[in-house]
Amino acid sequence: MKRLLLTLCLFAFACSGQSVHPITKRPYAGVMGPGGADWLVRPERESEEHPEQALDAIGIEAGSTVADIGAGVGYFTFRLAKRVGPNGIVYGEDIQQYMVDQLTKNMKAKKVTNVRPVLGTFTDPKLPKEQIDLILLVDVYHEFGDPQKMLDRMREALKPGGRLVLLEYRAEDPNVPIRPEHKMTVAQVKAELEPQGFKFDRVSEVLPQQHILIFRK
Ligand SMILES: C[S@@+](CC[C@H](N)C(=O)[O-])C[C@H]1O[C@@H](n2cnc3c(N)ncnc32)[C@H](O)[C@@H]1O
Repeated sequence: MKRLLLTLCLFAFACSGQSVHPITKRPYAGVMGPGGADWLVRPERESEEHPEQALDAIGIEAGSTVADIGAGVGYFTFRLAKRVGPNGIVYGEDIQQYMVDQLTKNMKAKKVTNVRPVLGTFTDPKLPKEQIDLILLVDVYHEFGDPQKMLDRMREALKPGGRLVLLEYRAEDPNVPIRPEHKMTVAQVKAELEPQGFKFDRVSEVLPQQHILIFRK
């Protein structure tokens, strides 16, 4: 009897624990822990990822309201804060308390006043509804454990016509030196976002190793 119960429990766990995307069957990468925080600010990141060129290609309007989802310690958050300026707001959201604490510490050290740190959950970034002009996800989407629920909530947070932008390492290119589950193809991203109510706008390939994928609500 005990063994039967154990088998049933294990079966229920296996059925509920979804580890691949239901449409593309892409395995979820899992969340980068606090140990990766230093890697996010490694000096060579600028030459590898060209962050300012990425933001130029996306186009960030002064005075706009932006959300940096999976913000980590704020590598992109503070660049966004500078671009939206004093009349804009940047929500810097992450699911790890450690990252939100580091982001808050960095915000104080840099005397930045237009960033709002937010602690979200695996399924909800806790953003205000229909207030956001642009949501940015840099090296984050592939880590989501429940991307469909996250996309639903992010869609609700965007203003009508608002943009959702993903930066993902190119899975089409075998020379990009990143583990396969941390890379995505354009086809995968489109196949996962379009059924969730996002309209593909364009992809920019100006960066050395990453796609910039732009969608609209
Ligand atoms: C590789 S780091 C990138 C951080 C930052 N975007 C950057 O470019 O420096 C991925 C971050 O996404 C966060 N993350 C993973 N799943 C998340 C989710 N469902 N909601 C919000 N953040 C998430 C992790 O905690 C981690 O800080």
